Amino acid sequence: MASVLFPSLLLVAAYPRSGSPQHERMQSPSAPSGTSTPFLVRLNPELEAVPPGGSVWLNCSHSCPLPVRTSLRTQLRQGKTLNGSGWVSYQLLDVRAWDSKVRCVVTCAGETREATARITAYKRPRSVILEPPVLEGHKYTLRCYVTHVFPVAYLVVSLRRGGRVVYFESLERFNGSDLANVTLTYVMKAGPNDLRQPLTCHARLNLDGLVVRSSSAPVMLQVLALSPASKALASASIAALVGILLAVGTVYVRRCLAVQTQ
Ligand SMILES: *[C@@H]1O[C@H](CO)[C@@H](O)[C@H](O)[C@H]1NC(C)=O
Ligand SMILES: *[C@@H]1O[C@H](CO)[C@@H](O)[C@H](O)[C@H]1NC(C)=O
Ligand SMILES: *[C@@H]1O[C@H](CO)[C@@H](O)[C@H](O)[C@H]1NC(C)=O
Ligand SMILES: *[C@@H]1O[C@H](CO)[C@@H](O)[C@H](O)[C@H]1NC(C)=O
Repeated sequence: MASVLFPSLLLVAAYPRSGSPQHERMQSPSAPSGTSTPFLVRLNPELEAVPPGGSVWLNCSHSCPLPVRTSLRTQLRQGKTLNGSGWVSYQLLDVRAWDSKVRCVVTCAGETREATARITAYKRPRSVILEPPVLEGHKYTLRCYVTHVFPVAYLVVSLRRGGRVVYFESLERFNGSDLANVTLTYVMKAGPNDLRQPLTCHARLNLDGLVVRSSSAPVMLQVLALSPASKALASASIAALVGILLAVGTVYVRRCLAVQTQ
């Protein structure tokens, strides 16, 4: 029955980056040679989700009875290690890539085997807030705020009226590596039927098999139904795509990092 729209998006980094990834390699004492021994390598946990910037411990264990050479291969920054008989535990720091592969390579008696793990960094939105619609001119302006979310490139924000999607925006072009606030602004005309239907805003992170959904509390247009302007609109509620305006304010705070380190 409605409408349309000047949706716009505003994206800002919620936090400054606190560091950049570095490559580090951990090498354990080198192995002597010997007879070829069957052995197993395990890396635990195999899949771990952390908040962006978080850290995680991975335990690489093996069944080689001899002294071995163990190393962890990853783009992620490595922190402390712990070891014991048959295992080495590695700390990974400041995980910001949303999806990272980690390999533990063990050489036992001249034979090399490896195990892999996957680290996912994501942050469910702290909040999804749909503000009460504002009547401006002859149109309602809806603003949906999705705060502290990561990774934005895998986020889809949608607006629904009475449960039906009236607009969605997929943010894959925003590939920044920071938490972000996203504001979706949508301008619409509303007909009389629209006034009885709740509006909701939805944020969905689609992380290669892991789907994280959050949604706003519903809001109604009803409150404004008595205003003369909306009555006038009711007769002009033919759907027509007026245009899409995308306003993006992206503040990647790498510059701050440079300032801090001076
Ligand atoms: C992001 O949103 C939160 C909650 O509204 C706010 O406290 C924070 O200042 C915002 N960050 C930026 C960079 O706008
Ligand atoms: C690592 O795994 C080994 C073998 O499962 C276990 O004995 C050891 O306690 C673990 N270390 C840590 C720090 O969890
Ligand atoms: C732990 O690592 C240290 C240094 O790499 C090594 O000297 C020690 O033997 C290892 N401990 C065990 C129990 O493997
Ligand atoms: C984001 O995408 C742009 C254009 O596709 C690319 O140039 C840039 O390197 C990407 N940045 C990151 C952090 O992946």
